Amino acid sequence: MKAIVVGTGYVGLPHGAICAEYGHEVYAYDINQKRIDAYKSGERKQIERQVNEPGLVPIIKETLGKSLFFTTDISDVIEGTDVIFMCLNTPPMRGGSTDLSYYENAAHHIAGLLAKRTDKRRVVIVNKSTVPIGTARLLQRILAEHGAENVGVASNPEFLAQGKAVEGSRSPDRVVVGADSEQDFKILRHLYNAYVNHVRIRYIETTPETAEAIKYMGNTLLLTYISFWNGVGAKVAESFDNVRMEDLKVGVTADSRISTWGSYVSNGAGGSCFGKDIQSLIYQLNQAGNDTNLLQSVYTINEHQKTYLIDRAVYEAGFNFNNKTVTVLGLAFKKRTNDMRDSAAIKAIESLLAKGVKEIRAYDPLANHEAQTYWLNPENNHLFERITYHDSAEAALKGSDAVYISTDWEEFRSLSNLLKEKITPPYLVIDGRRMIPDYADLTAAGFDYLPVGGQLLRGVVAEPTFSANGVQDEPALV
Ligand code: UDX
Repeated sequence: MKAIVVGTGYVGLPHGAICAEYGHEVYAYDINQKRIDAYKSGERKQIERQVNEPGLVPIIKETLGKSLFFTTDISDVIEGTDVIFMCLNTPPMRGGSTDLSYYENAAHHIAGLLAKRTDKRRVVIVNKSTVPIGTARLLQRILAEHGAENVGVASNPEFLAQGKAVEGSRSPDRVVVGADSEQDFKILRHLYNAYVNHVRIRYIETTPETAEAIKYMGNTLLLTYISFWNGVGAKVAESFDNVRMEDLKVGVTADSRISTWGSYVSNGAGGSCFGKDIQSLIYQLNQAGNDTNLLQSVYTINEHQKTYLIDRAVYEAGFNFNNKTVTVLGLAFKKRTNDMRDSAAIKAIESLLAKGVKEIRAYDPLANHEAQTYWLNPENNHLFERITYHDSAEAALKGSDAVYISTDWEEFRSLSNLLKEKITPPYLVIDGRRMIPDYADLTAAGFDYLPVGGQLLRGVVAEPTFSANGVQDEPALV
């Protein structure tokens, strides 16, 4: 089949590449010339600077110029197209509503082109990005406005998790297609023939509105689950002596009805989807006159989680951040990506800067450049000049008074060796991901260890400076 993918970011690029790999003729279209040039170059570095997904570059290289084409102009490929995928940015606005301006601009452009085509064959426009419930109808109105004929509208939400887009595309749990007519379902069945009647993949056909709602419900339930673990599980282990977080997790999730995904307690879930989608669902439900207390709590717990370890360092460990140097390990919202969107590290660094930290020494295996770009925008934080970027954890640790682990990169699991070799305590290790399995060695070597889902463990050689009434005269780690 001939397909156009509109928007070549984290949704459009992997989707287009996988469709091309399946043998469809794919035109990946974007208005951003720099992006298109990067993809056309076929060069790993250039592609990964735009979208960094394991396994994606080889597929692009394999299909480029054969079944995958990149372009900033689709006016001459629109004839004969069977499917057009809308993979545009739908960023959140203040108050939780969704900014559909990129989407609408593209929709008008495409509707105009479709109205002018001569072949008039059936074409289906498919919404892949997460869009508010009812957007398929909005698209129909735009098409009608331009007089585009024989155009179907469908909703086929993307469920890919970043870092696993290629794997997830080749073998999804489910494919959801919402459309209004058999002829449109048929076109998409043809496109997805590898998934239809598959023994393991659920292929679900429904209305466009249901498909749109499935996406919001799925992401919101996942975030609810994470917030349950961060807001209840971690707090149980932090509040009572002798409760072991790992055992708690295993004991609860050993129930076959309960999943282990989401039980990895953390410094808050980030990424481009969860925060935005739950806010959008809250907004949409509010607009329809509903109470959204549960969802608001889920959202608030997650946001609070992004800074509360820093607060615990102050009130539990007595650490005074003023004028200190703090290493932040991990800037991306999770491992295996360079994506900073809504990353927990952003809130943590803002909180550290607000507490008077003199220097943040940051390191991420992939996202240093993205972080730099983010903070160089003075709109994001006027204190950005206090952040320095380093090429390794070792370099970032130099001369710091505490470390904050924000992302679950595997290499941080061996951090205790590096700390013991390079750092002389007193020193505070704040672990937002429970990345240090051998924390007992660390505390034995004199380091203070403050993990999510666990109580503060004082280094055994640290000299406490408590006054008679139990209140610290001065922060213990100064
Ligand atoms: C998510 C959904 O998983 C996916 O289905 C949807 O299509 C898009 O949003 P993604 O944003 O790529 O995907 O990341 P995901 O792997 O789900 O992780 C989201 C955040 O939750 C990360 O910050 C991650 O570190 C955190 N997380 C995840 C936890 O804190 N604990 C966990 O147990 C799992």
